[in-house]
Amino acid sequence: MKPGYHEIYTRYRDNITRGVLKPGDKVPAIRVLAEELKVARKTVETAYAILTGEGYLVSQGARGTRVNPDLLLPAQNAPAEQATGTLPPSLISQRERAGFLRPGIPALDSFPYKKWLLLAGQATRAMRQDEMLNPPVLGWYPLREAIARYLNISRGLSCTAEQVLITSGYSGSLRLILDTLASRSDKVVFEDPGYFMGQQLLKRIVPRLHTVPVDRAGMDTDYLLRNHPDARFAIVTPSHQSPLAVTLSLPRKQQLLDWASQNEAWIVEDDYDGEFHYTRKVLPSLKSLDQHDRVIFMGTFSKTIMPSLRMGYVVMPASTVDAFTDCADILTSGQPILTQKILTAFLNEGHFFRHLKKMRSLYQTRRDWMIAALREVYGDLFFTEQNDGGMHIVAFLAKGSADREIARCWQEHQLQVNALSAWYRGSGKRYGLVMGYNNVRTYQEAVDLLERPKRQMLELLS
Ligand SMILES: Cc1ncc(COP(=O)(O)O)c(C=O)c1O
Repeated sequence: MKPGYHEIYTRYRDNITRGVLKPGDKVPAIRVLAEELKVARKTVETAYAILTGEGYLVSQGARGTRVNPDLLLPAQNAPAEQATGTLPPSLISQRERAGFLRPGIPALDSFPYKKWLLLAGQATRAMRQDEMLNPPVLGWYPLREAIARYLNISRGLSCTAEQVLITSGYSGSLRLILDTLASRSDKVVFEDPGYFMGQQLLKRIVPRLHTVPVDRAGMDTDYLLRNHPDARFAIVTPSHQSPLAVTLSLPRKQQLLDWASQNEAWIVEDDYDGEFHYTRKVLPSLKSLDQHDRVIFMGTFSKTIMPSLRMGYVVMPASTVDAFTDCADILTSGQPILTQKILTAFLNEGHFFRHLKKMRSLYQTRRDWMIAALREVYGDLFFTEQNDGGMHIVAFLAKGSADREIARCWQEHQLQVNALSAWYRGSGKRYGLVMGYNNVRTYQEAVDLLERPKRQMLELLS
């Protein structure tokens, strides 16, 4: 049934008082809303007149009608947080709400936003009508070219743009890989401990999932050969293992590649933070050593640019491009063209390389601060192990196994660390906290953050 003026009035009033429509928001012109709701203009005009009379809306002549920018909403609209005696939401800073020390978040204070906005404006203005259709499922070709160039230079690959497929990130990439190449009876092996979100995803979609232990040289390939030589897929993080941050040793890389080529198995190389290696200039990827095209390489811009970008990529082995294309045609709808265009400009105009270079040295400094602050605040309670890179550290517990309780205690202080033991599936668990450090802006800030849960944690351990 068509709404009458009273119903239109009530809808607006309720949405404004509930905060769905906010002070200053524009409302549609009378003619537009009347057409949309299929009612007479007079009906909308009457509803708007009452809302204006009551002070919910203000008419600004040619600039249209808006929700009154000076409207003071009653306290009932504040979210529930206030009732619990915590600070009102407006007084909690953005950073506080996002949480500190969350692993894997790039330094958000150091991203070249101005440059990005400039490129975004240019890309938006240059949009053509034919680009408003569905985007190409494998990705916008100039971005595929730019990524191929970057990978060939920086990660030692030799791939073509035709092998690069643009995805929305980890789960998009992994699902597409398995949908394209795996059958339900295929055995898949994953690292133990291994990326928590990866485990959750794989447990849902892979019936025959097994794990292979990780030690200081990365995934134990002897174990793999002894126990799961028949696996069809091995999903690994060779550059900086997630979560232990160790690097897969060269002999093990070779062993893994030999196993894959002899058994026609696939290795999925998750190169999520391979860009951040602090000791040697470039860490060779597993894919760069792959003579038989058995490695499917996947990367992401979540660590190098920002997670909200939702852009990742897969490098498809040449023999699989047709199969991937068929599968992507059915299962995906491509990625937003505008974001791909902005990203292409960011890569092609050299900003990406400059940003990476800056972040490498910034992260090294921030990591040193974090390790030193950990020592200053907690002495010998935690220890760290030397590794060459990555975007997080593991603070191992020197004694005991209460990392889940400790992580919960830290989380109560807005420190979003993870308990290491929760990332293990089998025996041989180690205990500690997985923590990010990239957004810690000074040494003192690292000390202050670590001090927050100290008293409560010491009580817990006593
Ligand atoms: C091990 C691992 N792989 C991949 C990713 C990237 O995920 P996405 O591209 O979906 O942001 C992450 C992010 O935290 C990760 O930790």
